[in-house]
Amino acid sequence: MSSSAPHPQRPPLDQATTPYATALDLHAKRDTVNLMVPGHGATAAGLSEELGAFVGPHALARDIPPLIPGIDVGPDSPLVAATTLAAEAWGARRTWFLANGASQANRMAALALASRSRGDVVVAQRSAHSSFTDGVILGDLLPRFVFPSIDPARGINHGVTPDALRTSLAEAQRAGDAVTAVYVISPSYFGAVADVAGLAEVAHAHGVPLVVDGAWGSHFGFHPELPESPARLGADLTVSSTHKLGGSLTQSAMLHLGDGPFADELEPLLERAYMLTQTTSASALLLGSLDVARHALVHGGEAIGATLRTVETFREELRADGRFPVISDGFDAFPDIVAHDPLRVSIDVGATGLSGHAVRDRLAAEHGVFLEISTAHAIVAFVGPGKDPELSRLSRALFALAEGAEAAPEAADPALGSFPALPAPGPMRARPRTAFFARHELVPASEAVGRISADALAAYPPGIPNVLPGEEITAETVAFLQTVAASPIGYVRGALDPAVARFRVLAE
Ligand SMILES: Cc1ncc(COP(=O)(O)O)c(C=O)c1O
Repeated sequence: MSSSAPHPQRPPLDQATTPYATALDLHAKRDTVNLMVPGHGATAAGLSEELGAFVGPHALARDIPPLIPGIDVGPDSPLVAATTLAAEAWGARRTWFLANGASQANRMAALALASRSRGDVVVAQRSAHSSFTDGVILGDLLPRFVFPSIDPARGINHGVTPDALRTSLAEAQRAGDAVTAVYVISPSYFGAVADVAGLAEVAHAHGVPLVVDGAWGSHFGFHPELPESPARLGADLTVSSTHKLGGSLTQSAMLHLGDGPFADELEPLLERAYMLTQTTSASALLLGSLDVARHALVHGGEAIGATLRTVETFREELRADGRFPVISDGFDAFPDIVAHDPLRVSIDVGATGLSGHAVRDRLAAEHGVFLEISTAHAIVAFVGPGKDPELSRLSRALFALAEGAEAAPEAADPALGSFPALPAPGPMRARPRTAFFARHELVPASEAVGRISADALAAYPPGIPNVLPGEEITAETVAFLQTVAASPIGYVRGALDPAVARFRVLAE
């Protein structure tokens, strides 16, 4: 399968079309004999009957392998046309369709930055997702952290201001760091949107590209009331978890290369990183879903507008009730937040007397309401663009939980008051890659404090590493990770066991 750049003589592309998905449809309707993989032969016959019942014969007929002429072979293929349409839709020079999530986009970005040969330091927002840490390890990058603003009352991270970035880059310069790029996250898990244009200006003034992890903002730019797509604001790379809120199938994602001062240099490096990270058998269903999702977003303005109104009505209901503060209503207090994602509702659930984790668990178990994220004090509801979920079920369930807490205050979560605050990271005492591959030993948690971690450990949700390989493990971090692990829906990515009872540390 080729992901080559668009052919220079290609006729103008039409956003009304879905070239790749349509090519799959046409192929599915052909009378073919499939003597190739996948073994189900694109039909629900024979031994594939159960699979056909599970995913549907329609999906099976489109689950075809790569390298089919007329679908994904050559620079004029429908697949290249689909990626070019996506680039245009998100305001990018070039877009890659990815089959391993925005995690792959983060690893690609890190590998491309590491192969710039301009330096190994990446000035990175500390609240980067663990897949970026994976990229740091793969590419042997050295992160110099710029810390996002923090809402101390709720223990949540927001973003980085252009001024904070300027200071961090100046410090890096004074320290003699060879900086290869800047890496920030926007929007945050709570929908806080950073000043991407301002950050791009600062990064470019220092001669380095800006990478925006926009995993949670793949719908940005598709309605006047939504924030703009980072690629249009000057981001050199935009990581996009299209499956999150962009409407494609889970696991499908995109990486956008902005049309900025670093595009010529980064494009071939990204192509190499793509080869290194993309499966050689990317699912046609996943890639096709990206084509279809792009088409739906481009033409979905009216439906997105309706969703925006529905979500605002829900926020109004919470405000009128008064017991459940809408966290984004307080975003003005944070200088790094210039906008927020209106399709996300972050709710302070203090009125329930329970942690956000317990509320999320009970909403799912008792009310069939499933939420994306919880923290000690909050839950975050996401509404897909163009969707109209029954938000009244969430408000009714929350009000019932609050009434339960009013009637029986003694039932409040005793652990809530002692839920540990998000810990500050320990000092970095070894390069992440060096620590990852170093000789290590496994020690009980009580002996891990003060030792250097060989692993990245990230409490989920939301998956921001609390410890990186090479960082010293602190007592606060151990307490935090163990508390999250013990909560009903928490788990720690990278932990050796579910209770985080042991740590992998560098041998002494
Ligand atoms: C900020 C951020 N970046 C990247 C990712 C990785 O996305 P994916 O799950 O599509 O691999 C996530 C996942 O939650 C994320 O939160």
